[in-house]
Amino acid sequence: MATQVVPGKLVAVHDPQRGAAEGARLFADVLRRAVGARGTATMAVSGGSTPLATYAALAATDVPWDRVKLFWVDERAVAPDHERSNARAVREAFGATPFLGVFPMDGTREPSASAAAYAELLAQEVPGAPPALDLVVLGIGDDGHTASLFPGDPAVTDVESAVLGVPATDAREARITLGRAVLAEARNVYVVAYGAAKNAALERAWALHGDVLDCPARITRGFKGRLSWLVDRSAGGIG
Ligand code: 6PG
Repeated sequence: MATQVVPGKLVAVHDPQRGAAEGARLFADVLRRAVGARGTATMAVSGGSTPLATYAALAATDVPWDRVKLFWVDERAVAPDHERSNARAVREAFGATPFLGVFPMDGTREPSASAAAYAELLAQEVPGAPPALDLVVLGIGDDGHTASLFPGDPAVTDVESAVLGVPATDAREARITLGRAVLAEARNVYVVAYGAAKNAALERAWALHGDVLDCPARITRGFKGRLSWLVDRSAGGIG
């Protein structure tokens, strides 16, 4: 096994259920502190299946939701009611949470045009240039991707773009994703990973040496804010 140094804070939980409770507690704390400091809080969330239970638990916590704006980390090029839509999955998980604003990415437009529109929206709705989100929730794929930054794709090495369109491949539909320029500015980033299938990807993300193009989750090493990894024992290879 290559030498690993977790770049950031490791929050290890026994299982995904405890991860949901712990994640909800930690995310709520970030949001409350942001509202206290700046009057509003901005949060961008990933889709996929891992964090959905955490969002549902978070929705039940005591946060001044009418001061919180919800954004998306990435979206698949599908309609908003499609079973693979991150907008749909995240909205369902948060239920009737009374956010100050809800800003899904548009998966029905040509991805680069949708990305450009979302970059404009972020510039208007999120303080900072580039926009500095208070909380970003990322996942990690078995292949080491994070957000919709996939191994070998040029979007992975683009450090200038706020939001990017990612073309379809044989394996997946086109995507819209926050770019490194925005991800790197976030005040707090949590990467959430559960299950043994994520272990190899985390090992590559945490290895001292490696290439971002092979394992895009390694971009986290260049993030400026507080970075934490919320993992269960099997994902983290712990015990
Ligand atoms: C997406 C994502 C993606 C996700 C990982 C992990 O829309 O696909 O945002 O980056 O976080 O693929 O997905 P799971 O949680 O489903 O394992």
